[in-house]
Amino acid sequence: MCGIVGYIGNRQAAPILLDGLSKLEYRGYDSAGIAVYNGSEIGMEKAKGRLKVLSELTHDGATLPGTMGIGHTRWATHGSPSDTNAHPHFNQNQSIVVVHNGIIENYLKLKKRLERKGYNFVSETDTEVIAHLLDYYYDGNPLRAVTKIMHRMEGSYALGLIFKDHPDELYAVRKDSPLIVGRTDGGSIIASDVPAVLKYTRDVYFIENEEIVRLKEDSMEFFTVDEEPIEKESVRIEWDVNAAEKGGYEHFMLKEMNEQPKAVTDTFSPRIKNDQIVIEELGMSDEDMQRIDKIMIVACGSAYHTGVTSKYIFEDLARIPVEVDLASEFRYRRPILSDRTLVIVISQSGETADTLAALRESKKQGARVLGIVNVVGSSIAREADNVMYTWAGPEIAVATTKAYSAQLIALYLLAMKFACARGQMGEELLREMLSDLRALPSQIEMLLNNKGKIQRFANRYLAARDVFFIGRGVDYAISLEGSLKLKEISYIHSEAYAAGELKHGTISLIEEGTLVAAVLTQKELYKKTLSNMVEVSTRGAFVLAVTNEGNTEVERAADYVIYIPETNKYFTNSLAIIPLQLFGYYIAVGRGCDVDKPRNLAKSVTVE
Ligand code: AGP
Repeated sequence: MCGIVGYIGNRQAAPILLDGLSKLEYRGYDSAGIAVYNGSEIGMEKAKGRLKVLSELTHDGATLPGTMGIGHTRWATHGSPSDTNAHPHFNQNQSIVVVHNGIIENYLKLKKRLERKGYNFVSETDTEVIAHLLDYYYDGNPLRAVTKIMHRMEGSYALGLIFKDHPDELYAVRKDSPLIVGRTDGGSIIASDVPAVLKYTRDVYFIENEEIVRLKEDSMEFFTVDEEPIEKESVRIEWDVNAAEKGGYEHFMLKEMNEQPKAVTDTFSPRIKNDQIVIEELGMSDEDMQRIDKIMIVACGSAYHTGVTSKYIFEDLARIPVEVDLASEFRYRRPILSDRTLVIVISQSGETADTLAALRESKKQGARVLGIVNVVGSSIAREADNVMYTWAGPEIAVATTKAYSAQLIALYLLAMKFACARGQMGEELLREMLSDLRALPSQIEMLLNNKGKIQRFANRYLAARDVFFIGRGVDYAISLEGSLKLKEISYIHSEAYAAGELKHGTISLIEEGTLVAAVLTQKELYKKTLSNMVEVSTRGAFVLAVTNEGNTEVERAADYVIYIPETNKYFTNSLAIIPLQLFGYYIAVGRGCDVDKPRNLAKSVTVE
């Protein structure tokens, strides 16, 4: 995700900004920029690419003299990576400059309103809207202008702001995206995250939602959105830099697991308006969706698993035939596609070679291709006919968690959208499902907070040799993901099986003490999976069950039960995956594995 920094004090700002941005590089970015005010002009440099490019452009900051400035590393959400889309962004007469971390969900509406008032935009970003909106409301009082735009923007933001006619004041404001402030010797600093300030101070102020900060060389003031002054206490940070990059978590994977509620929220909230699903980037009318006679979903690894999940939902809800295929298989067979086939390619990185090849093969055959991608401007995002982004933010750990959860959300929305367009789903059911969807983030949070119980259970299986995951329907799909999570980071052999398939061979592997994880969240399939659990437990297996709260009948066939909250039957994968992620994580930690960078694996497999 993006990172912002800002400085005001008695030292040259540019080197401090570049140093602060270098401490935020771990967050992932595709471009960077800084703006420095020397009292008469606001100088700015920004460029696509690594921070090194910016340092060279500014001769390590020497070309931008001045003692107040703001800086930014951009993780593209709206508008591909480019020099123009990089932050900071000016208003038209370059008297206001902004850096932003977050997503302004209503930026298109605000942009159209500003264009009607004569504002001209140079970039594709939502952030540029903020610069012009400030300009529109600015009457010489920065605080007033800031509070006015806060009442009109929807979404998340951490902002750094400079107003040319206020050369001694640096402003910052926060809603949902993190922002901290600290005192340095002879100045003050703002940043998105602790690592950027540790070099200068360990006493930081965590800015809360809708709080505004006014920094001067020798002071800092805090205000509410009603311009009321408030007092804040600083917090002493004891983390070292390494821990700080992980937000205090031991691994990026655990940090990203805990970011799943936000990744899920950020992926669905801009696409639900007045209880309707709005996926503008889909580029398909209801008629287009009615004309599609087959959906082909192609991906690799965890992305493939989300495709397996969504097959059940598309077919049951939208009554449209769905095929799901591994990209590495798809590209070497002669798939039967037509201009009435919608090919959905799913990829976190957007650079997976097999998936990119499948996209190209599909387009060659005249099929329409939709990409579900996390990295804006990646190859798959650029080459797909349309792209639906999962706004999970950059995912550092090789084992995907938050991007996987965001992909599920994108597919739920798509399946419901198709069901409505094809007359298979009425307003009533849509409202119900959207209500269940909105409840997912807090339910995920609750399951994440239950990690102690999972950790204790996992510690009993550090020496396991074979672990089997079984389920039916979407519970089979989540078994695939639970098994992959375990084996890719703990190096324990694991397999996932459709529960009804076990007896056709693999059950011969079940021995005394073999761990079998059974997932049963589909009420109409409970009894079937229960019988499969009895089959394996009578042959000596230890059965872990993951099931819905209230399904206590499971306890007669399971040795250990993890309950997940009630949700729509189509959405249970989003909850069941949490204990399974935690299970794999704690086993890997207990076995001393390199959780974030498992052996033999890469975050993005850009070769065949
Ligand atoms: C999942 O934890 C693995 N990192 C891997 O299976 C991954 O899902 C697969 O390589 C696909 O990557 P992509 O989503 O970037 O295309």
